[in-house]
Amino acid sequence: MPTALLTKKQNKTAQYGYFDEQNNEYIVTRPDTPTPWINYIGEGEYGGIVSNTGGGYSFDRDPRYKRILRYRYNSIPMDRPGRYLYIRDVKSGEYFSPTWQPVQKELDDYACRVGMGYTTITGSYLGIQGQVTYFVPLGESRELWVLKVKNNSNTKRKLQVYSYAEFCFYDATIDQQDVDWAQQINQAYFDKKHNSIFFYSFMRTQGYSFFSTNGKVSSYDCDREKFLGRYHSESNPVALENGSCSNSVTYRGNSVGSTCNEIELAPGEETEIIFQVGATPNPEEAYEKIKYYQESQNVAQAFQELKRYWKNFVSKLQVNTPDSDMNLMLNLWNQYQCKSTFNWSRFVSMYQLGVRRGMGFRDSAQDILGVMHTIPEEAKVLIVKLLKNQFIEGDAYHQYFPLTGEGDSKGYSDDHLWIVLSVASYIKESGDFEFLEEQIPYADNKGVGSVFEHLQKAVDFSLTNTGPHGLPKAGFADWNDTINLDRGKGIAESVWVAEFLGFILLQFIELSHQVKRENIAKDYQIKYEALVKKINDVAWDGKWYARAFDDDGNIIGSDQNEHGKIYLNAQSWAVLSGTAQEKRAKEVLSISKKMMNTKYGLILMYPSYNGFDHTKGGVTTYPPGAKENGGIFCHSNPWVMIAETMQGNGDQAYEYYRQILPPTRNDSIDLYEVEPYVYCQNILGKEHPQFGLGRNSWLSGTAAWNFLAATNYILGVRASYEGLLVDPCIPKGWKEYEISRTYRGATYHIKILNPKGKNKGIKSVKVDGTTIEGNVLPVFKDNSAHDVEVVMG
Ligand code: GLC
Repeated sequence: MPTALLTKKQNKTAQYGYFDEQNNEYIVTRPDTPTPWINYIGEGEYGGIVSNTGGGYSFDRDPRYKRILRYRYNSIPMDRPGRYLYIRDVKSGEYFSPTWQPVQKELDDYACRVGMGYTTITGSYLGIQGQVTYFVPLGESRELWVLKVKNNSNTKRKLQVYSYAEFCFYDATIDQQDVDWAQQINQAYFDKKHNSIFFYSFMRTQGYSFFSTNGKVSSYDCDREKFLGRYHSESNPVALENGSCSNSVTYRGNSVGSTCNEIELAPGEETEIIFQVGATPNPEEAYEKIKYYQESQNVAQAFQELKRYWKNFVSKLQVNTPDSDMNLMLNLWNQYQCKSTFNWSRFVSMYQLGVRRGMGFRDSAQDILGVMHTIPEEAKVLIVKLLKNQFIEGDAYHQYFPLTGEGDSKGYSDDHLWIVLSVASYIKESGDFEFLEEQIPYADNKGVGSVFEHLQKAVDFSLTNTGPHGLPKAGFADWNDTINLDRGKGIAESVWVAEFLGFILLQFIELSHQVKRENIAKDYQIKYEALVKKINDVAWDGKWYARAFDDDGNIIGSDQNEHGKIYLNAQSWAVLSGTAQEKRAKEVLSISKKMMNTKYGLILMYPSYNGFDHTKGGVTTYPPGAKENGGIFCHSNPWVMIAETMQGNGDQAYEYYRQILPPTRNDSIDLYEVEPYVYCQNILGKEHPQFGLGRNSWLSGTAAWNFLAATNYILGVRASYEGLLVDPCIPKGWKEYEISRTYRGATYHIKILNPKGKNKGIKSVKVDGTTIEGNVLPVFKDNSAHDVEVVMG
């Protein structure tokens, strides 16, 4: 496990941290980051959030229905509680937390290493160094906290190690809202034989949570109030002041996993204590594994397996470009974030509380795209789950909850269409056309259809549910959750959905050709052309495309409007869908740049609304420049990048890519505030006083789409039905770059040379030394490596 550590002096060289490329980690060098900088542990089943000071919480498969550790969102002091450890010097009674929080003693050194699936935090105080690594062993319903304590002083030290894991009632909404009930039924006890505390509700209907340690327990507390003491907090527990826990049991109230281990360390000596937190149907089923993970070598092995898992995960696509920030993101961090969004959609982060939103239909359908190159089989499993949430009429539930599978909320005009793209992407990657024939039930037990039928119903729904201009109805909202135009008449229409439908029709037509359903392909080609003509007839505003028509038929996103004159998505998707051709495509991209580009990214629309307007809804609840109201909605930026590559503008696409690349903000964190190793959802826009401030890091479609924009369109290597397609659109200044990509069982080492300084265009392609026709690399399926040389020109 990592051991390197910065001293206080070295800390000054970086603002809040830096990338350690050798170890695939980001190292946070100060605990007082402007927001908690987090990491996810677990691979989509048991897991949780860990901040750079040990804050955060856990859940078992579903953060709403199966919460394990509790968290107090948006509270003060911020970022509490967490997976806390205290080290106490017996002689002086002084104590500290190696994670800085919750004690907040000024540490002699501190480092938080954010790694793939683990976080390691090290802190020293008065000659004692504590280092804790948090991770979830692959496939396990438990997390491990591996603590190393080292005596760096010259004298023998008697120490105590205390722990703090605050249990949550399994249903997190009830834990917050029905305190009266939950507090009477929460119970916990210490099991001496297994060195474990078991927490459960009196009904015992949802299993048990547990806390366990391998250290010899000299005292323990299950009752939170007994450990903390009245009017104390996690910062100054009375147990630490007394030098002992009080061996409390919880008969009702709040429960914690708190144990005290006594250790003695000679100068230079180090010891390790392992803690476990997890979920089990009943205590008996947990004993064996608890014992297993009390052994140091088993824990070390689990950690190595986790490392191997991640090495393999990112190995399927690696790049070497002239841009080191791009390499860093594409080779590691962007892929890592894509997996987090794939695991948790928009359900659980520092901004989404893991109670209200489940797995978003449209969100997950896009997250799937970001992991397709590496785990297509898992992507397929999620596709099937989403298809089960589609209605027989073609539309879909907006979200579902992973533990129960229960769907929730409907009436969005775009959700169902995204799944067409996910399925197309899966087949292009895998070549698994048979999937189209798989029978999948529709939601609410209303029959079964093949995957192909599901897709056809999705496009039909939007083709037939149209308003007065013949465009798809706006419904409650489209991709933009905050444009809420339907006020009961049901005639509001979305120009963006029309364009998006055009793009999806192109996917559906291409797929129909592939499976030789030529009549369907022909039929939908006619529908596509009619749709595109309609959009150009009714939504072209003179210089750009309008965004919508409201429930009174008024135009939105037009030069005629005082606010919200131009919307970014209506321009980018006009290009992506082929609605805007040649001159119009150039015009809309150039006006988008002129009116909506900023140094931190493209804003979503301009000028922002300045006051609530019930005819438009959510977007007007935000102050100018915030979120969907003229903020930089990072998710929408890569769509413009892709549109630019379609026009051959490699320099422009790349400039947009750099503008929102998180590592470029590493040295202006006091303004940007959020983690520089993952994308955030939004950055406050130019009309906001805090222009440049980021929010909602981690769970955003920004992750998948920037990954696609960069790899598939700028670097230009993407899966197609026939094989791996090479179609770069890069900055003229790039002389060469490499991309290695595993695809359908073979690895392609692709070198792209650009001797004439072009943006786009290919002169020749050689595969294993032989020139091939065209730019689609053959499918080998031979488990071996192939060298590809592409010359642009
Ligand atoms: C949030 C939602 C996403 C939506 C976007 C724009 O990111 O999760 O579904 O498309 O906001 O409103």
